[in-house]
Amino acid sequence: MDPDILNLIKKHWPIKSLYGLPEKFVPGKTVIPYSGPVWSEEEIYEAIHTLLEGKWLTSGEKVREFEKDFSAKVGQQHSVMTNSGSSANLLMVAALRSKRLFGFTDIAVVTPVAGFPTTVAPILQNGFTPLFVDIELKTLNLDLDQVEAKLTPKTKAIMFAHVLGNPPDMDRLLEICHRRDLLFLEDTCDALGSSWHGTPLGGFGKLSTCSFYPAHHITTGEGGMVSTSDENIERVVRSLCWWGRDCYCVGKANLLENGTCGKRFDRWLPELPDLTIDHKYVFTEMGYNLKPLDLQGAIGLVQLKKLDWIHKQRKAHYEGYRAFFSRYPDLFRIAEPHPKADVSWFGFPITVTTDKFTKDELTRFLENAKVQTRNYFAGNLLFHPAYSHLGNPHDYPNAVTVTKSTFFLGVSPNLTTEQMEYVQSKLAEFIAAH
Ligand SMILES: Cc1ncc(COP(=O)(O)O)c(C=O)c1O
Repeated sequence: MDPDILNLIKKHWPIKSLYGLPEKFVPGKTVIPYSGPVWSEEEIYEAIHTLLEGKWLTSGEKVREFEKDFSAKVGQQHSVMTNSGSSANLLMVAALRSKRLFGFTDIAVVTPVAGFPTTVAPILQNGFTPLFVDIELKTLNLDLDQVEAKLTPKTKAIMFAHVLGNPPDMDRLLEICHRRDLLFLEDTCDALGSSWHGTPLGGFGKLSTCSFYPAHHITTGEGGMVSTSDENIERVVRSLCWWGRDCYCVGKANLLENGTCGKRFDRWLPELPDLTIDHKYVFTEMGYNLKPLDLQGAIGLVQLKKLDWIHKQRKAHYEGYRAFFSRYPDLFRIAEPHPKADVSWFGFPITVTTDKFTKDELTRFLENAKVQTRNYFAGNLLFHPAYSHLGNPHDYPNAVTVTKSTFFLGVSPNLTTEQMEYVQSKLAEFIAAH
């Protein structure tokens, strides 16, 4: 491709701002988004390059390269890219049903009752039972005392998301998993870049997942990943993601005449010993099609290079808000990381603990001042129509409190010092008026 095309892209489509926001920040007029991609011409160039010169529109060499680089970042041996983090969670749980792996049909999976819905939905969609536990108010993470107390012989796995990037006590969690023989399914969708005692989150689970939705640490537009260090699990997850097929040729290997196995056309079906079948059309799993486009892999490769900088920015913005909110211990509870955690914050969680004002009043004030805020996702899931038949939300009092009183502010890498000072000045104005 003509190398000048990058310059032409820069000349004709320079990226000045995100979401159509003006370049110049006008306090009270310009929206301060709660998150947003760290995005430049390079991602667009790579996407266009892959469209024009790639051999596939669907998952191909770029997705394969991204899978490899991503695995190294989270410290797992293998990864399978998907079209979203929700799809990644679906595959992570579906893998437990595979006859080639655990073959589970009727198990319980421990999971916190508050958080993002598609951490929990796959448990039910696969015919398993969620065993809900409450969360702790300090970190919003699952309450490990309740995990210990509630485990039943039917409980075979534990699945949760590190809340807004902040892990629970991983030493204790891993010890429980080991002692009670639980598979750890790690939802790292909000936590890419965080680590525990030097080990990246996403590197602890038997399987772990990530999301590349634009609000997350890195983005491919939409996208997700399942990672594992077990080759058999990778094969099953890839099969489930790719229609259920037995063939595992990916990237360049997809073009091999006789496949990676060297016997693409062979007698694959035992019941038809005389029939030669193409391995690409042999199905070992009851699968889905949850594959991403190759240009998403190309974008992911560029994004991954920015992760260290993104981590530093998110952490610095967390520290800025922490310094502000620490001045008001009577009004707010803020999440503090464990000393062993190095957190790449997805957001800055705040729980209103005073009677002087409500979370609603504060977030409405901020939104009117053009500062975006977000709830802690669904809060207590049992309040929601899709999940209300699963239990009484009031049996989980901390999750109720969080639904009513917790929100988060963005710590996007794109935030400027001027914007952060503006947010703090609005917060101080609100506090002074109450
Ligand atoms: C913890 C968590 N898990 C899973 C998801 C789903 O990811 P996606 O939006 O890519 O489907 C999200 C949200 O985006 C999330 O915050």
